[in-house]
Amino acid sequence: MSMPSGARFCSTNAFTGALVSNGLAPGFWVQKQSILAHSHASVHARVMSGELPFLRLHEDDTPWNAVRNVSDSLREWAHDLVVLGIGGSSLGGRALISALGATGMRVHFPDNLDPEQFGDLLDTLDLQRTAFNVVSKSGGTLETMVQFLVVRDRLRDQFGPSSLKKHLVVTTDPEHGLLRPLADEEGLTTLAIPPGVGGRFSVFTPVGLLPAACAGLDLDALRTGVAKAAERCQSNEPEKNPALAAAAIYHAFDAEHARPVLVTVPYATSLKSFGEWFVQLWAESLGKDNRGPIPITAVGATDQHSQLQLWMQGPHAMVINFVEVEAFRRDIKVGTGGLTDEKLTWASGNTMGHILNTELRATEQALSDACRPNVRWTLPSINAENLAELMVLWEAMTAYAGELYGVNTFDQPGVEAGKVICKRLLREG
Ligand code: PA5
Repeated sequence: MSMPSGARFCSTNAFTGALVSNGLAPGFWVQKQSILAHSHASVHARVMSGELPFLRLHEDDTPWNAVRNVSDSLREWAHDLVVLGIGGSSLGGRALISALGATGMRVHFPDNLDPEQFGDLLDTLDLQRTAFNVVSKSGGTLETMVQFLVVRDRLRDQFGPSSLKKHLVVTTDPEHGLLRPLADEEGLTTLAIPPGVGGRFSVFTPVGLLPAACAGLDLDALRTGVAKAAERCQSNEPEKNPALAAAAIYHAFDAEHARPVLVTVPYATSLKSFGEWFVQLWAESLGKDNRGPIPITAVGATDQHSQLQLWMQGPHAMVINFVEVEAFRRDIKVGTGGLTDEKLTWASGNTMGHILNTELRATEQALSDACRPNVRWTLPSINAENLAELMVLWEAMTAYAGELYGVNTFDQPGVEAGKVICKRLLREG
């Protein structure tokens, strides 16, 4: 059954024709047909075998129900949820809630060890009504564990050791890692991260879903979005599977046209955290073996007054990856403000959303005229289903790109060395 899709991908401005020079050749898709079929088959086989479950997270009721149960019981007494996690254990949930807004509990993602930020947050919260979600797949991440230790002490000091059971929820591997046995021994509420789903692919596991549910987001709609993306990723034809098309384009610009920098620019402030989520996904998955792309993010139209000069006239190293929102959840008609001078009122009569989207289209046109490749993803609107679909499509796109780069998308060996040195330095005092 073919499902109507939300997110659309437009790559016209990546090709010769729209670009006088610097574009991909018209024969690009024919030339890439076999390598794309191979990349798709490789990811698809691993998804179907269960090795890569990130494209099948809509299938199993268990984690969705478990999240619902835990969030229901937290929402009975807690006003705030603090997510103690970092990287893939934090960015996805934050992206969802920033984009979709919280109608339930307030959810906080400190995502760092900054003592000023963390101390201020704890001081401003009513701890009596605050739950803490410790999120770590490995159970051994320094930043998360330090936050966890600080919170445990605060809770124990204020409410006694027995309070831990009420205030803490642990999201971790079902079997492995240091947190699992500790949580079991102390009788803490736990949620399992399905084996095979790494941090940056875990937003639609309890890692991102518990914060989302506590914030009041629509889990059913998120799940539908995951399913829709999975359905589109069944196809190995780039015109039907935009994740595959986009991976091919970004990879070709980097590997064959010396354009490694992928600048993701949603024209919606609420998608700023989504851009940050993608930067981590793309960077940690693909930057290895002395190659890989360089993701950066910006927000339109804000960064037209910051980065656009670089995109237009800086080094020929970039592909601009726009994200457009077709219909905003609210809009504002711009009047004249009582002014009559056309030099001041020429934008009057439009809505703010229309002006913002026109700025996107104008920037695209300016970039294309300057032979600067750019592509566009369009969301009909920002809602749970569309956002989930886009996020899973971009996860799949990352997996396909990993095949094209010939790297292991799912490991991160480069982050280990610094951790080992830090541990030694802390032990040495
Ligand atoms: O994407 C990843 O795998 C990483 O960013 C991890 O999420 C991050 O390092 C936190 O790891 P953990 O969940 O094991 O604490």
